[in-house]
Amino acid sequence: MKFFKMFALLIFVFSIMSCSNDKPAEKEIPQTMTEEAQPTADNPQEYKPFIEWSDALVLNVEEIDKQHEDLVVLLAHLHEVASHATEQHEIGHLLGELINHTAIHFKTEEDLMIKYKYAGYDEHKKIHDDFVKTCLDVQTKINEEKAKLDMETLLYLKTFLSAHILGQDTKLTAFLNEKGE
Ligand SMILES: [Fe+2]
Ligand SMILES: [Fe+2]
Repeated sequence: MKFFKMFALLIFVFSIMSCSNDKPAEKEIPQTMTEEAQPTADNPQEYKPFIEWSDALVLNVEEIDKQHEDLVVLLAHLHEVASHATEQHEIGHLLGELINHTAIHFKTEEDLMIKYKYAGYDEHKKIHDDFVKTCLDVQTKINEEKAKLDMETLLYLKTFLSAHILGQDTKLTAFLNEKGE
């Protein structure tokens, strides 16, 4: 009888152990998009894009506007991919694309500033350079798998882009408009 009790106890213990082993691993939720970009379960219609192009961002210098729009689209795409992809190299690649387009765009603005001897050149260029450097640092960390592209970084990119267009670029394009650009 004692033997049967011991046997039953062993079966019970093994069944508990096997239950805990069979428990599906918790899916890692990317620590990325939890905030404003996601529709809520209660209100799926209220989906708000992370960032989108709007007339408010148009500065009336055609090439600059087109490049700004491309950057907004690229950032929205990066956000979308980062929301679902767990492959960091894919995210790093898209971030690289955004950085390349940003560098090309900054060069366009800087060439125009030089062409028309814009007084705010040094200050504006430093803001460009610092931003590119920050982005490259983030990209290096992602590529070396020392960091992930989190929501904080995406919000930083979005805030910089919007604030820069509405701030320094607005001043610059007003100047360029006066010069006939
Ligand atoms: Fe710009
Ligand atoms: Fe700029």
